[in-house]
Amino acid sequence: MSAPTTKPVAVPPWPGAKADGLVRLEINGESAELPIIVGTEGERALDIAKLRATTGTITLDEGYVNTGSTTSAITYLDGEQGILRYRGYPIEDLAAKADYVEVAYLLIYGELPTSDELDSFRTSLSHHTMIHEDMRSFYNGFPRDAHPMAIVGSVVGALSTFYQDSLDVRDPRQVEVSVHRLLAKLPTIAAYSYKKSVGQPLMYPRNDLGYCENFLQMMFAVPCEEYHVDPDFADALDMLLIVHADHEQNCSTSTVRMVGSSDANLFASISAGISALWGPLHGGANQACVEMLERIGADGGNVKKYVDLAKKKDSGFRLMGFGHRVYKNYDPRAKLIKATCDKLLAKLSIRDPIFDIAQQLEEVALADEYFIERKLYPNVDFYSGVIYRAMGIPVQMFTVLFAMGRLAGWIAHWIEMHHSPTKKICRPRQIYTGEKRREFIPITQRT
Ligand code: CMC
Repeated sequence: MSAPTTKPVAVPPWPGAKADGLVRLEINGESAELPIIVGTEGERALDIAKLRATTGTITLDEGYVNTGSTTSAITYLDGEQGILRYRGYPIEDLAAKADYVEVAYLLIYGELPTSDELDSFRTSLSHHTMIHEDMRSFYNGFPRDAHPMAIVGSVVGALSTFYQDSLDVRDPRQVEVSVHRLLAKLPTIAAYSYKKSVGQPLMYPRNDLGYCENFLQMMFAVPCEEYHVDPDFADALDMLLIVHADHEQNCSTSTVRMVGSSDANLFASISAGISALWGPLHGGANQACVEMLERIGADGGNVKKYVDLAKKKDSGFRLMGFGHRVYKNYDPRAKLIKATCDKLLAKLSIRDPIFDIAQQLEEVALADEYFIERKLYPNVDFYSGVIYRAMGIPVQMFTVLFAMGRLAGWIAHWIEMHHSPTKKICRPRQIYTGEKRREFIPITQRT
């Protein structure tokens, strides 16, 4: 084989990142110089975009364990240190000092709003809360026992049939109208999915209420009596929406970006994200976690038995609400949620056996060599369900609430992707491992 030839690779203009030298890679006598890209917090990446063109080789990384799909200026996450920041602001500060609408503004527009900006954002959201009357009839078509995530995903997708005046992904004004519509209408769509399951009349939104108060009103009010929103519930819900609002390139956000990369409209892209979130390894873990805690309780509350079961690979059982692809330390969101959980249950004088079991389970798991070695800690889904239960929210709605929080992040990523000068349709490659070319066999000759 001849001496390796070096083919330098041009550094693409990765938005926000700096180039920091080149790495020389030799494959089968072909050599490429690959740029190293560095982010603002010092994270480093090898830009392999031109690797195949120069060496004929691609990279393989099932589950994208070591693959960055983009640069992003929205959320910083350090899984080793347990750090989470939106647009540079620590999650702990945002949870203590801002509300969800303010955080949504921050994620989507990039800066904290002034009071005028926030007022006009809130006003706009409160004027888009109703859904088209014809959409209400959709709810009659779903079976009574339909999972609300299925209903919410379908109705969000159907928004693109009712709001065709705002679907052009290249028109900033249309995009903004779609964004406000979606943020305003998702609580209505979500609450209606619950009302459908209990056979109660759908309650219209009330524009004099805040984002979370309005949602609780649509969930729990009935037309025949007065309903007062408990401010502690509204505050707890607000905190939960904030801590769920973004988490960089997770499965559902990557789905939103992937679908959006084909220039599919915002409603279609978000509907796909809702489907991705539904799975029990992702947002569906909050429902799966409470069901697991109930199962442990019904089985006598022996948490050690279930920790042991989770360690047996062939049991097919995992501790739901435990472990994370990125966090190898205590999930900072779980800390905030547990603190609110403690406060809320104490204030309401609620003694939920599920909370006791969760705390015992955490204690036993965190002292166990298997969980220590693998750095498995409680994640965002471990304690959130206990708060939802205290508020009277049924278990099937837990993942819908995750979607309501994550909506702001999905939108921010969808917009960021569209603004990127390096935007391309997402289209991974593969290594084919099937049959080589073979002759077609007529059906009469097949054995
Ligand atoms: N219980 C028992 N063992 C676990 C768990 C768990 N919850 N999580 C990971 N492990 C083990 C796993 O078996 C593997 O062991 P080994 O190295 O011996 O094969 C090791 O830890 C690494 O796990 P992995 O599955 O390779 O890690 P991953 O990064 O692919 O998966 C995860 C991350 C979140 C899917 C996984 O931890 C899990 O299934 N957790 C339970 C579901 C859950 O709580 N999901 C919510 C995640 S946070 C919110 C969100 O993203 O929506």
